[in-house]
Amino acid sequence: MLKLTDLTLHYGHSQILNGISLEATRGEVTCVMGTNGVGKTSLIKAISGTHPRSGGDLILNGEALPPLPAHRMAWKGVAYVPQGREIFPLLTVRENLEAGFVCLPTNEHFVPDEIFDMFPVLKKMQNRRGGDLSGGQQQQLAIAR
Ligand SMILES: Nc1ncnc2c1ncn2[C@@H]1O[C@H](COP(=O)(O)OP(=O)(O)O)[C@@H](O)[C@H]1O
Ligand SMILES: [Mg+2]
Repeated sequence: MLKLTDLTLHYGHSQILNGISLEATRGEVTCVMGTNGVGKTSLIKAISGTHPRSGGDLILNGEALPPLPAHRMAWKGVAYVPQGREIFPLLTVRENLEAGFVCLPTNEHFVPDEIFDMFPVLKKMQNRRGGDLSGGQQQQLAIAR
């Protein structure tokens, strides 16, 4: 599903990732582990386009992709659920979900039933402000979005 070869990433002049290669297979959960500051989040940012990689190859479902910005990677089906959740606190739950529409064609601008099947609490709380949800509920909202 996803194959990285020799991926590198810089923040300015600081090189943070030095030739990372990995393969993630459909139907499995791939986990990247390491001590604080080792570069896990930077790796995920490079994959999701949140920060551009400076070198290396990325193949997604057989397609070699250049470094693309996050919204283009979202079009390709790559989503990033940030550690800090980054829910819009003053928007409703529904509006937070609708924020995910930006990467979809207009005819797909609806919240699929499977989202509410997975996270029934979000259906009940659609009109509540995101910031009023508990931490775990916000985590559900971030994944659902
Ligand atoms: N925006 C940034 N600018 C400069 N350095 C950064 C930035 N983000 C992270 N770093 C540095 O890159 C290294 C890896 O950080 P990070 O990927 O967040 O690690 P992890 O997620 O594994 O804890 C750390 O040394 C961190 O200080
Ligand atoms: Mg991190």
